[in-house]
Amino acid sequence: MAEIVRLDRIVKQFPGVLANDEVSLEVEEGEIHCLLGENGAGKSTLMNILYGLISHDEGDIIIRGEKVSFTGPGDAIALGIGMVHQHFMLIPVFTVLENLILGSEHVKGLSLDLEKSRKELIEISEKYGMEMNLDAYVRDISVGMQQRVEILKLLYRGADIMIFDEPTAILTPQEIQELYKVMESLRQRGKTIIFITHKLKEVMECSDRVTVLRDGRNVQSVITSTTNTRELARMMVGREVIFNIERPVVEVGKEILRMEDVHAVNSRDLPALNGINLHVSQGEVVGIAGIDGNGQTELVEILTGLRRSVSGTIEIDGHNMRHKTTGDFLNTGTAHIPEDRLLRGLVLDFPIYENMLLGFEDKKPFARGPFLDFQKAREWSEELVEKYDVRTPNVGVTARSLSGGNQQKAVIAREFQRKPKLLIASQPTRGLDVGAIEFVHEQIMEAKKKMTAVLLVSLELSEIMNLSDRILVIYEGKIIGEFKADEATETDLGLLMAGGHNAG
Ligand SMILES: Nc1ncnc2c1ncn2[C@@H]1O[C@H](COP(=O)(O)OP(=O)(O)O)[C@@H](O)[C@H]1O
Ligand SMILES: [Mg+2]
Repeated sequence: MAEIVRLDRIVKQFPGVLANDEVSLEVEEGEIHCLLGENGAGKSTLMNILYGLISHDEGDIIIRGEKVSFTGPGDAIALGIGMVHQHFMLIPVFTVLENLILGSEHVKGLSLDLEKSRKELIEISEKYGMEMNLDAYVRDISVGMQQRVEILKLLYRGADIMIFDEPTAILTPQEIQELYKVMESLRQRGKTIIFITHKLKEVMECSDRVTVLRDGRNVQSVITSTTNTRELARMMVGREVIFNIERPVVEVGKEILRMEDVHAVNSRDLPALNGINLHVSQGEVVGIAGIDGNGQTELVEILTGLRRSVSGTIEIDGHNMRHKTTGDFLNTGTAHIPEDRLLRGLVLDFPIYENMLLGFEDKKPFARGPFLDFQKAREWSEELVEKYDVRTPNVGVTARSLSGGNQQKAVIAREFQRKPKLLIASQPTRGLDVGAIEFVHEQIMEAKKKMTAVLLVSLELSEIMNLSDRILVIYEGKIIGEFKADEATETDLGLLMAGGHNAG
């Protein structure tokens, strides 16, 4: 196969960050090439350079054997390079067809032949198995569909080198499978795909080769079939990653959380919890396994004061917690790593030090009468950022500017400062990369060692199995099975999660 793209020792310096430090990349025509790296490794920067969107300081771009220089994406597009960004660039109030034609430079002048374009687009979409309704408004179609529009746009412009920047982040598992199919059909017709991801599984599933970046530098390029997730994880993170975490042995203490016959409804007023019974003791991790939508969200909401139960008993450390507020839960010693840190964990437009203070505003040493001592808050946040390795230039930047992994570290840093009696960890690693997942798992084990009672709710069965001492299976708002961690098998759990009966 022929080399189609070569990036040679690309250097890109942003103020205070060396995003690409002599990065090289060789891509062959007709391959699916993954660019793998943790958040902040420099993947998007490198690809934005290849797409002519940002300029580089040093190094060469060689396309089909010729050294090129770009003054903007137009130059890259002319050479057949196209990119689907993490954030789409579609106009919601326009139809799919209008969006497709608008973005296309090769439609010249005012004499737009809509019908001709329509025919051409239908042809392309059928050829690559991407059927879509060209007359739908973009605002009315799913994100997965919008992504297809972006891909179709590239094809319509004649791209044969296609860059996808973390395309799966916004897709459901089924949509991911459909995207793989589209990619495969693109490849069969000779297109070259550069696929950015931080997920090892995806590299293994879809690529021919993979180039790993870490901290703005090349680590290695390998043929995918000759490597495995463990080796890739080591390249990506720079050290051995523990996939099976060591569970510390802890003598379980007194009971902290007790729920008896708890009933609750969901946001649409339909029964969500149908008589939950469970208990968690000091130093114990109890995992709730289940398929999404079986009451997990409501269970967590009830245990953090975000939702009221209809009936039943809820006690934390002997206190009756029915119908209590979020503040009451905090004051009773409950910490919460939320399912959606963007909605509930952080105020994205607040600086980090203010986020670190959430729930502590009325506590010494930050409260001075009715006022907050911001100097103290900053100092305290700086300590936490250091201790929990939250990567940020300083604590004055907004939470929004942090990567997902670092946002989660910030939430954990704050929540663990409560020295909680009870920790409610709800999908604590959703959307994180390997290094950050490992960190979160270690912190949960730390909490256990410190005799915190932990209720872990997760859709990741491997996470539940690795961390829990006991596993409860939730199905249609009821706990329908219980296992000691060492006795649970994936098959048994899976059967129960689907509503089947306990084999044992
Ligand atoms: N426009 C920019 N200005 C300043 N810093 C940036 C900019 N874009 C990216 N960075 C920084 O460069 C580094 C690499 O970022 P990026 O290429 O987006 O990484 P990745 O795509 O691998 O997550 C990060 O530290 C990021 O904060
Ligand atoms: Mg990126």
